[in-house]
Amino acid sequence: MKRCAVLVSGFGSNLQALIDAGHKLGGGIAVVVSNRAGVEALQRAERAGIKHHHLSPRDFASRDDFDAALARLLDDYSPDLLVLAGYMRILNPAFVEHFADRMLNLHPSLLPRYPGLHTHARVLAAGDREHGSTVHFVTAALDGGPAVLQYRLRVDPADTEASLSARVLVGEHIILPRAVNWFLTGRLSYQGGQVMLDGGPLNTPHVIEEVRPPTSAATKPAAT
Ligand code: GRF
Repeated sequence: MKRCAVLVSGFGSNLQALIDAGHKLGGGIAVVVSNRAGVEALQRAERAGIKHHHLSPRDFASRDDFDAALARLLDDYSPDLLVLAGYMRILNPAFVEHFADRMLNLHPSLLPRYPGLHTHARVLAAGDREHGSTVHFVTAALDGGPAVLQYRLRVDPADTEASLSARVLVGEHIILPRAVNWFLTGRLSYQGGQVMLDGGPLNTPHVIEEVRPPTSAATKPAAT
């Protein structure tokens, strides 16, 4: 059975979605590593009986030293796949190279739109009609590797940063376990700059549309 390692920085609801997938994940979670101490994500790993570590950037003289130590720690677990699930630190080129072709990131926008931070606010400021989240392979370009799976929603006039963040998270909890399953079960790979899914090239991401619960108006019996 293949196994993934998961990098986290905070609340860890996406880690929880991987844990909750159970056997449907298609493989195991070998280890969880956080760059922040005391975060909920580490407690989720603890509760699930998964090996977990905190590695503090403050204990290292440079980013390169930290990333080298992080790679060594992860190598101890021989992961087939590295999953960045809300990991809020940029990884240096040597690290990205080390895990090339076997690292997936979750980013809260419809990439290539809005790489970087504050995606929900930027979507609102631009007046975009749609938003979502993307699982993509990691390359040296920040949030720039090829997209595999996206969750797409329509932005409502009443949406706020908080409401968009909540709606996007619902979708992330669907697309991240699914993409990890594809990889761990051998359906998904990234070789020579080409994403492959089920034996064929995947040149545009799969898209899952948000399904919203029916509004109360729609469920009310018609007036007589
Ligand atoms: C997710 O929205 C992810 O896309 C972003 O940070 C959030 C992490 O949430 N990078 P959680 O820690 O998994 O709850």
